[in-house]
Amino acid sequence: MLYGKDLRLRAIEREDIPRFVRWLNDPEVRRFLTRHEPLSRAKEEKWFEEQLSRTNEVILAIEVLMGNEWIHIGNIGLHRIDLKNRTAVLGIVIGEKDFWGKGYGREAIRVILRYAFFELGLNRVELETFSFNERARRCYKAVGFKEVGVRRRAFFRDGVFHDVVLMDLLAEEFAG
Ligand SMILES: CC(C)(COP(=O)(O)OP(=O)(O)OC[C@H]1O[C@@H](n2cnc3c(N)ncnc32)[C@H](O)[C@@H]1OP(=O)(O)O)[C@@H](O)C(=O)NCCC(=O)NCCS
Repeated sequence: MLYGKDLRLRAIEREDIPRFVRWLNDPEVRRFLTRHEPLSRAKEEKWFEEQLSRTNEVILAIEVLMGNEWIHIGNIGLHRIDLKNRTAVLGIVIGEKDFWGKGYGREAIRVILRYAFFELGLNRVELETFSFNERARRCYKAVGFKEVGVRRRAFFRDGVFHDVVLMDLLAEEFAG
């Protein structure tokens, strides 16, 4: 378990799968993700089984403390962990929309970055986001990510090509 302020990251479990399917099938959530096709429970179960054996990936459930109860609001992960170049790719989705814009995203990211930089010894974490995802871009900037590149018109959504923004953060720049 990794702890932050009123927030913790725990391993994802099989029992969480129905929640993942609900989140990823919600058009308002999916809008910000690469996935576009409706997702079945069977496909998500297959994904879950496959990720169990992957060693270059850490995917954790974000839980926040509400009263005495921990509520699972989303997932966060380090993908393509590369221990030679000491890099990884960050991914996050808060599937419970009522929890958007309340600072939980940045807190979850800070917690996983502490793990990335101070446990795994990574030197650089990168991510990509769609140019229209203002909330995500502001959240990432708040943690210290810098916009370092643009993949122009790389993403097609709703009949329009959108830019994809590349952001990264070096260990030496991370405020902790
Ligand atoms: C992106 C996401 C992880 C951010 O987490 P969060 O808890 O909502 O973000 P935070 O509250 O920490 O920060 C949000 C920032 O955006 C701002 N914001 C909130 N709603 C906004 C909106 N509708 N438009 C623009 N900015 C917005 C907030 O004011 C804050 O910025 P500030 O600190 O400069 O004021 C979360 O919203 C999410 O999972 N969204 C859906 C899926 C997604 O977009 N995943 C990321 C794909 S790259």
